[in-house]
Amino acid sequence: MMPTAPSPPPQHVAIIMDGNGRWATRRGQPRAAGHEAGVRAARTAVRACRDAGVRVLTLYAFSSENWLRPTAEVDFLLALFVRSMEAELETLHAEGVRVRFIGDRAALPPSLRAVVQRTEQHTAGNPGMVLVIALAYGGRQDLLRAVRVLAGRIAAGAMAADQIDEALLGAHLDLADLPDPDLLIRTGGEYRVSNFLLWHLAYTELYFCDLLWPP
Ligand code: FPP
Repeated sequence: MMPTAPSPPPQHVAIIMDGNGRWATRRGQPRAAGHEAGVRAARTAVRACRDAGVRVLTLYAFSSENWLRPTAEVDFLLALFVRSMEAELETLHAEGVRVRFIGDRAALPPSLRAVVQRTEQHTAGNPGMVLVIALAYGGRQDLLRAVRVLAGRIAAGAMAADQIDEALLGAHLDLADLPDPDLLIRTGGEYRVSNFLLWHLAYTELYFCDLLWPP
């Protein structure tokens, strides 16, 4: 049989990392242990995508709906993000990864906002894979922010409504200059997109699996 050439990797993979809590509960551990394991799994995913030649990896770390979780869990998650990003920053930088964040930054506590800014600035010139971390992100809110900016311009007389086309609206969304995901993966057994990248998923292949996010 003729050997077949390996198919090229997707350019942009987006992941909804679901199942941390159940992973911990099944082990008789607190949900927090599941989130710690989730960070380890995210680290593995970043390396795997980079090694496979993926250009952009977007991880849904904290959705706009996640604010509704119990305060103790929200506080734990936000502190975990600060701790994990501080711990990973130099390694990601050495590996040439460019880190970006999408979502409602103003909603984040100052300590997390500071790490977000530092991480973006420190890795901005890196040539390797782009790692996008969605924090306080919602697809509808992303669209609303863009629409408000454009509506403001129309109200100010700076442009006409019929100048809004797909390219212009897309350019005002959080992922703006990056290609749409080719592949969305959701772990944890739910078959829905949960307000993630609504505009960008129009032509994306969706892959849902029952495995929990931590292995
Ligand atoms: C889903 O599990 C996961 C989250 C709500 C967010 C936290 C994600 C991580 C800690 C992973 C890595 C993060 C970074 C820094 C990129 P769940 O709590 O919804 O699980 P359940 O559905 O089993 O309750």
